[in-house]
Amino acid sequence: MSAQELVATAEAMVAPGKGILAMDESNGTCNKRFEALGIAPTEENRRAYRELILTAPGLGEYISGVILYDETIRQAKKNGTSFVKVITDAGIIPGIKVDTGAKDLANHPQEKVTEGLDGLRSRIAEYYEMGARFAKWRAVITIGEKIPSRGCIEANAHALARYAALCQEGGLVPIVEPEVLMDGDHTIERCYEVTEEVLHTVFNQLYVQRVVLEQIILKPSMVISGKDCSKQANVAEVAQATVDCLLRAVPAAVQGVAFLSGGQSNEVASAHLHEMNARFGSILPWPVTFSYARAIQQPALELWKGDNANVQTAQKALLHRAKCNSAARNGKYSPEMEKLAEPAIAGFRGSKSPLSSQD
Ligand code: 13P
Repeated sequence: MSAQELVATAEAMVAPGKGILAMDESNGTCNKRFEALGIAPTEENRRAYRELILTAPGLGEYISGVILYDETIRQAKKNGTSFVKVITDAGIIPGIKVDTGAKDLANHPQEKVTEGLDGLRSRIAEYYEMGARFAKWRAVITIGEKIPSRGCIEANAHALARYAALCQEGGLVPIVEPEVLMDGDHTIERCYEVTEEVLHTVFNQLYVQRVVLEQIILKPSMVISGKDCSKQANVAEVAQATVDCLLRAVPAAVQGVAFLSGGQSNEVASAHLHEMNARFGSILPWPVTFSYARAIQQPALELWKGDNANVQTAQKALLHRAKCNSAARNGKYSPEMEKLAEPAIAGFRGSKSPLSSQD
């Protein structure tokens, strides 16, 4: 794939009114979410659930790309049509998670490093052949007493940069995801400090590994109070802190920013994205959109409950969240939109307790 094609793909991923739907939960994470709702953790249920998502009518109006998992990219609809064909027919770009998970980092208690570089060049070639045009790698940074350490930040930044370089060589746009977890009782100021250090380190490593910034999408976490912090920053404060932090640490050449939701409630994730675009859209050097998993899928999963009879209702809930986040991408979301949802799903807020992140 040429440099221009990589740039064009990255641009399309953050096109106006569109964002990315992350549906790349590993089998372990997907099963855990199923079991919490009494859904049997079988391959067929995982396939049926992903078919529900991908066949939601009109999904392509709001969604530019979907991130798949290795099992999912090989699956097909009940009638035999491959998921990759369903996705491309809907005008959506197929993407693939290529990391193999966050593992304990030696000599660094409570810290993780993401693995998956071994054999990555050939896996990228296989996924490209299968139709994927972008990839994702998620690094996980935990805030706690005396952590994150420099060792953890540098190991993860290095791996992200090596991954991104391999993706560009193999024709995939890399989504570079350094997630600073919301878990903990830290303040928003501490989250700012850590996020800024992580982003500076990641962009330094991307530079060292000669990654082309116009051909990447950054997927950061928002600058936000820890889940258990007694003082929770409001929407205006989160938007201000996140924009300030990114403006200081993310080069203008980056093609786009697509946030993860990280355990925020559905409506708060939409409100934060809206606030950033509505207040700061005109001064941001990159498009700012969503790449949510939980904050876009959760109501649909809870309404589906593993029962075929609920597919249409679940699809309506998925499309509703996609529409709200698409509006937020353009700075046009308002909480009133939640009340305008179809009767079958209006008022259904989904799980109250935030789900834990992916394994
Ligand atoms: P959440 O939006 O649920 O945080 O997930 C995004 C994602 O893809 C994590 O890697």
